[in-house]
Amino acid sequence: MTVIENPLAKPGSEPQSEGTIHITLKVWRQGSGRDAGRIETIDAPDIATDMSFLEMLDVVNERLIKTGGDPIAFDHDCREGICGSCGMMINGRAHGPEQATTTCQLHMRHFKDGETVFVEPWRAEPFPVIRDLIVDRSAFDKIIQAGGYITAPTGTAPEANNLPVPKPDADQAFEAANCIGCGACVAACPNASAMLFTSAKITHLGSLPQGQAERDARVMSMVAKQDELGFGTCTNIGECSASCPKEIPMESIARMNRDLLRATRRRRRRPGQ
Ligand code: SF4
Ligand code: FES
Repeated sequence: MTVIENPLAKPGSEPQSEGTIHITLKVWRQGSGRDAGRIETIDAPDIATDMSFLEMLDVVNERLIKTGGDPIAFDHDCREGICGSCGMMINGRAHGPEQATTTCQLHMRHFKDGETVFVEPWRAEPFPVIRDLIVDRSAFDKIIQAGGYITAPTGTAPEANNLPVPKPDADQAFEAANCIGCGACVAACPNASAMLFTSAKITHLGSLPQGQAERDARVMSMVAKQDELGFGTCTNIGECSASCPKEIPMESIARMNRDLLRATRRRRRRPGQ
């Protein structure tokens, strides 16, 4: 392997391999939800720039284990930007510095040699820390559960062309379905609002014919559940959408609010439904 001199290296330190950087991690360490937590400084030399951020943490953890240290706990699954489990704050930004990118898809080439990188868990009361960078996002599951079911005929799958869906509606539903439930919108919002997430789920079904039968009940129940779980209210700051790795737009929240208003009025006109 080629080795090159690292201009930022301290005198006497090992030279870096080509295509590598030497960073200093300031990582949140917290044994459990009951512990106070603290920032720990970890030296991370020889990090390949083509590694993902999670691969970098894997390498750091292997080194920690070899030297008898405690590996950093972090959540992950697909490592393909699909499952939504890898969220963390990187230098104060949800999922790090790249737009529309999950932490698992973020590469170390976006960091500078010699850089200090702060890594922290999502900070929101409804997402309590379990350990280090892992938070409990089951509050999102409860919001989805509150949405209930859709009424659909049983039996064999119907012929697709029997239920035409206008292209703009299909596009809107598809855009909303991109939400991976990562929680970056909550972590980025100063109010810890879950409205971008909830509105994406409501838009997904509310845009399609199959979602009409329970549309009113769904929006009322899901919004009530997010409020009950302690998520804040939207004050149109827009950090949620700017931090969203799937670029769910703010219009989604406006659409949910319109749906909620419509459902509330209808409920007043026809109580008991
Ligand atoms: S709306 Fe975006 S940021 Fe929020 S949970 Fe869905 S994908 Fe993540
Ligand atoms: S690990 Fe699945 S989205 Fe990052």
